[in-house]
Amino acid sequence: MPNYFALIPAAGYGARMDHQLPKQYLPLAGKPMIYHAIHTLCRSTAISRVFVVLSTEDPEWRKYDWSQFNDKLTVLYHGGATRAESVCNGLAAASTICPDCLISDEDWILVHDAARPLFTQNQLRQLIDEIGDDPVGGLLAVPVADTLKRGDRDARVAQTESRENLWQAQTPQMFRYRMLLNALSGNTHANVTDDASAIEALGLHPKLVHNRDFNFKVTYPQDLELAELIMQKRNHQ
Ligand code: C5P
Repeated sequence: MPNYFALIPAAGYGARMDHQLPKQYLPLAGKPMIYHAIHTLCRSTAISRVFVVLSTEDPEWRKYDWSQFNDKLTVLYHGGATRAESVCNGLAAASTICPDCLISDEDWILVHDAARPLFTQNQLRQLIDEIGDDPVGGLLAVPVADTLKRGDRDARVAQTESRENLWQAQTPQMFRYRMLLNALSGNTHANVTDDASAIEALGLHPKLVHNRDFNFKVTYPQDLELAELIMQKRNHQ
């Protein structure tokens, strides 16, 4: 039986938040935003270990107490210039830094953005169940709801795009350790904005798992406000 590992790339800055603090550390429900993804993944009995990939110069992580997660959480100061590079470095470092994890080529890696704090145990279970022993792997995703416009350089509509069969990719994205490492090695350009696109570049077709719950990426300041409200509501249910 394969094992399941989680890897959270958290070496980005989040320039679109326009804040001095990297966005993964912005306060949300009384904790740094990254805490919520770590908490969900560490609490899951399906996940053997959670790796967090930080920038080599991250000054923030040590300011918080992470001891409640004990040995389930391993920090890797191996971030790269792009998300794909951070994930690739993290995958390579995980097996050397944690030899007792015994990560095998066929084990599953769930890559989850630090900036998706609304991800829940139910979403995690749905992803793992629906991917099952799929030969490729897959990701949480939502069918596109809005009408899509392609703009020109002057922000005028060049054309309306069909939204038929269009999905918004979310995370976690789950692939086998060796397949993902091979897919990302040498393919860590800024335009590889998720793990699935590296797998697609191999000619493979990841499975889309329809997520019906909130799991948006906190990108702009108003996303943080909305995430705060949703967390408050969930805590009162
Ligand atoms: O910038 P964006 O929101 O797309 O980043 C998605 C995730 O990738 C975030 O958790 C961010 O910290 C991470 N990332 C990274 N290394 C980079 C850029 C982004 O780990 N160089």
